[in-house]
Amino acid sequence: MSVRRVVAGNWKMNHGPAEARRFFDALGAVPSGPRVVVFPPVVSLASSVASAQGVELGVQNIHAAESGAFTGETSASMARETGAALVLIGHSERRHLFGESDADVAAKIRRARAAGLEPCVCVGETLEQRRAGRLEEVLETQISAALEALDPGAPYMIAYEPVWAIGTGETATPADAAQAHALLRERMRARHGEAGGQAPILYGGSVKPANAADLMDADEVDGVLVGGASLAAESFRAIIEAA
Ligand code: PGA
Repeated sequence: MSVRRVVAGNWKMNHGPAEARRFFDALGAVPSGPRVVVFPPVVSLASSVASAQGVELGVQNIHAAESGAFTGETSASMARETGAALVLIGHSERRHLFGESDADVAAKIRRARAAGLEPCVCVGETLEQRRAGRLEEVLETQISAALEALDPGAPYMIAYEPVWAIGTGETATPADAAQAHALLRERMRARHGEAGGQAPILYGGSVKPANAADLMDADEVDGVLVGGASLAAESFRAIIEAA
């Protein structure tokens, strides 16, 4: 595999500034090899920047506008200024709980690019869509909208996160992941050529120390995006070691 492995943690709405600092103190320096990324809540970004060692940091969301009257929102350039290098875009919780569309995802990707943030764009089907045999169609629609907005000349990553596997304890099998990743890789290559062959595709959804190595051994699985198991330094470290 030519793509460098990535282990990313999405803390969601967990760990304030003091807890973030305790997490990074406990994690210490990470083993060399994989890229390690953490997406803390935006209020914990500054303390994460001050305490993380060898870990890249990102934000979980940005607004599509550069600035303006958007109470409660964070712009890409503010996130960048505070020390974020990456941004999660289109996480299923943003899509399903906050109603974000593929058009919103595309607009945020463009804003991230303009600010110099590396987008990690999440795609994935719901259980209903999978049961209705719509896996390919859903992934195709989501990845096409993302690729249209992404720049093949700048780094980005894609995360395949089947919605039914997020926070449920139910993990896709390595074969499920390989099937979805192959489809995504094919679209990425078709649209972005060599760059589309090189951008990492992460699997996410109930990744734990016990299943991380098997998932990362699957074809085209270049890393993992971890929610629950990224909250404790010990389990996150075990996943980094598995990579
Ligand atoms: P989970 O979350 O690992 O807790 O299932 C993954 C994610 O939402 O990125």
